[in-house]
Amino acid sequence: MILTRPQPKSFHVKSFGCQMNVYDGDRMSELLTGEGMVATTSDAADLVVLNTCHIRERAVHRVYSEIGTLKREDGTRPMIAVAGCVAQAEGAEVAKRAREVDIVVGPQAYHRLPELVTAARSGKAAIDTDMPILSKFGALPVRSKGQRTSAFLTVQEGCDKFCTYCVVPYTRGAEVSRPFGAILDEAKALVDGGAREITLLGQNVNAWDDNGIGLHGLAVALDKIPGLARIRYMTSHPNDMTQGLIDAHRDVEKLMPFLHLPVQSGSDRILKAMNRSHSRDSYLQLLDRVRAARPDIALSGDFIVGFPGETDADFEDTLSLVAEVRYAQAFSFIYSPRPGTPAATMCDQIPKEVMGERLQRLQAVINTQQHAFNVASVGTQTNILIERAGKLPGQMLGKSPWMQSVHIVQPGIVVGDLIDVAITAAGPNSVTGTPPEKRKAA
Ligand code: SAH
Ligand code: SF4
Ligand code: F3S
Repeated sequence: MILTRPQPKSFHVKSFGCQMNVYDGDRMSELLTGEGMVATTSDAADLVVLNTCHIRERAVHRVYSEIGTLKREDGTRPMIAVAGCVAQAEGAEVAKRAREVDIVVGPQAYHRLPELVTAARSGKAAIDTDMPILSKFGALPVRSKGQRTSAFLTVQEGCDKFCTYCVVPYTRGAEVSRPFGAILDEAKALVDGGAREITLLGQNVNAWDDNGIGLHGLAVALDKIPGLARIRYMTSHPNDMTQGLIDAHRDVEKLMPFLHLPVQSGSDRILKAMNRSHSRDSYLQLLDRVRAARPDIALSGDFIVGFPGETDADFEDTLSLVAEVRYAQAFSFIYSPRPGTPAATMCDQIPKEVMGERLQRLQAVINTQQHAFNVASVGTQTNILIERAGKLPGQMLGKSPWMQSVHIVQPGIVVGDLIDVAITAAGPNSVTGTPPEKRKAA
């Protein structure tokens, strides 16, 4: 192989997708740093990695328009790698559709990025969308110093559920759980590297298992790591929510009182067409059990509006479910037909205007609930983890145990601090925290 292009010395990774996609982006950065490359901005980098998402059509469009912007004023462009779920779903098509692309690498193959960079130096596109049984995790370097205060840790990947609208089972492959020991080692390395909170990630994270330990057993083990203050997990599937995990919300001190449990629709008819394999009632009963174990738990969900065949009555069922649950926050999306999924060819696709109208109505209800949740916390005392500087001078931003963004102005606070505050004001998207000293002085 004749290498006509120079070895890239600097890189930039841009992630477009979910938390797991962000995790993959971090790991690719650490891998490239280990190869002697330096992280820099997109404009200056010799290698730009676009870590893509395939979940909705718009996410895919963003990537192709991003590729167009990578051309520089002098006519040159960086080496371009398309990683992530678009790479997996479209494979070699990516390099055909966008000729600038040098590397296409799927989410289960990115540990081979350095070899692919070398191959691409020959001037020919290098493509790797294998899904090896032997996991990439063993081939990646150990986690480095300088981790995020709130770090992600993938424990489970892939999905066997095959909801009829969803690409994840095709882009991430079958459900695989990482071994207990490897997860524990990575968690310790993250904490050594500066993390105080770890969010365990999986497409169905609560399906994680290693010899019957289960996610609750993993939480118990992580609870014992000194220096780790908080444990979270996402995303869960209602059918994998065991009593052990529910009880862990009562018994495991560091496990935060927050549960993201997508339901997608409040209509049994639509849930069936989605192949969700749970009903409206089974979901609501599950939440009753969760609330019995941990009464202050904050709930979050995902919703899709405009699934094929969704009638006004089906949508009203979704609204009434939301009213019944009272979410602390929730995500809602317009249904996006995805190539190769069963729902994409179902008849009765819903007109765009109807979907838009439904989304607005649903989001209005969710926003009201989120605001009410924030207002209800005013007057309480809690503990926040400082994650970053705020927009205003002297302002810092932290998270409450219930995932609320908390603004605080207090000299001397730094990222990674855990501090006690009183919640003194609430807005739709955040609350204000006041530290104890200030309250005494006032
Ligand atoms: N494994 C998780 C998350 C999957 S993707 C789960 O089962 O919930 C995150 C969210 O994107 C989903 O919960 C769903 O609400 C949304 N989503 C997935 N496919 C979609 C599609 N084709 N159109 C619109 N939203 C979709
Ligand atoms: Fe997609 Fe359903 Fe699997 Fe979630 S459970 S990743 S929505 S197929
Ligand atoms: Fe997107 Fe892949 Fe995550 S499709 S949501 S980046 S698993």
